[in-house]
Amino acid sequence: MKTVLVTGGAKGIGKAICLEFANNNYNVVFFYNNSKSQANQLKCQIEKLGVKCECYKVDVTNANEIQQAFIDIEHKFKIIDVLVNNAGICHKELIIDESIESTKNIINTNLIGPIEVSKFALRNMIKQNSGSIVNISSIWGNCGASCEATYSASKAGIIAFTKSIAKEYSYSGITCNCVCPGVIDTEMNSNLTQEEKQELVADIPAGRFGETNEVAKLVLYLASDNSKYITGQIITIDGGFTL
Ligand code: NAI
Repeated sequence: MKTVLVTGGAKGIGKAICLEFANNNYNVVFFYNNSKSQANQLKCQIEKLGVKCECYKVDVTNANEIQQAFIDIEHKFKIIDVLVNNAGICHKELIIDESIESTKNIINTNLIGPIEVSKFALRNMIKQNSGSIVNISSIWGNCGASCEATYSASKAGIIAFTKSIAKEYSYSGITCNCVCPGVIDTEMNSNLTQEEKQELVADIPAGRFGETNEVAKLVLYLASDNSKYITGQIITIDGGFTL
């Protein structure tokens, strides 16, 4: 049985990814940051599906927590077949008003975090000469978003990181791809007013926000043996929003 590791797995898109992989017979390991009760609930839900599940309180900005978790994961699961770098934060503010602390926090969480986690996963995957990494970026990593300049920069960084890892580790049988969601119905968008939501939907040709499980199904495909010849690709899932 294969094992997937998902960062920020307790809720939103990460939770949908954990459930999608569990439903497809993967053992699931996930990191959560603050959502302990949601994490424990999800662990129980996944175990009921007949696969193994472990969750770790790991802040992806904390290199020591990442390292400690990997020691335990490798002890318990030996092989990490798939890494999904999903954890992320968004922050809306005029860039001229953004504090250096806020800027660093966004870059540390959305860019340096996934890079650090990938280093550990890659060291494990190289030993087996196989593996898949799927990074969750954003349409704004491609297009840039007003009032989300640092978020957009962090997500653009992940796109370049994806292409670099694909080039560096294809020879080791490892694929690395990137998913760029549009507007997905999660807590990340919960601060939008009804009016703002309606305005956004009016700009989306599909006429609705995306669902977390739609992103999860794409991630599963990119991690599967059916997509072994796809690497370094940046795949948008946005209902036509950025066309
Ligand atoms: P969410 O806010 O529901 O979930 C984000 C997850 O990341 C949470 O589980 C949170 O605890 C975790 N996280 C945040 N900081 C962390 C840290 N320092 N260490 C460990 N975990 C941390 O948001 P959502 O929508 O599920 O977002 C998931 C990913 O999808 C993010 O990378 C986000 O940027 C990306 N995305 C989301 C879109 C949307 O419309 N919801 C659109 C495009 C991209």
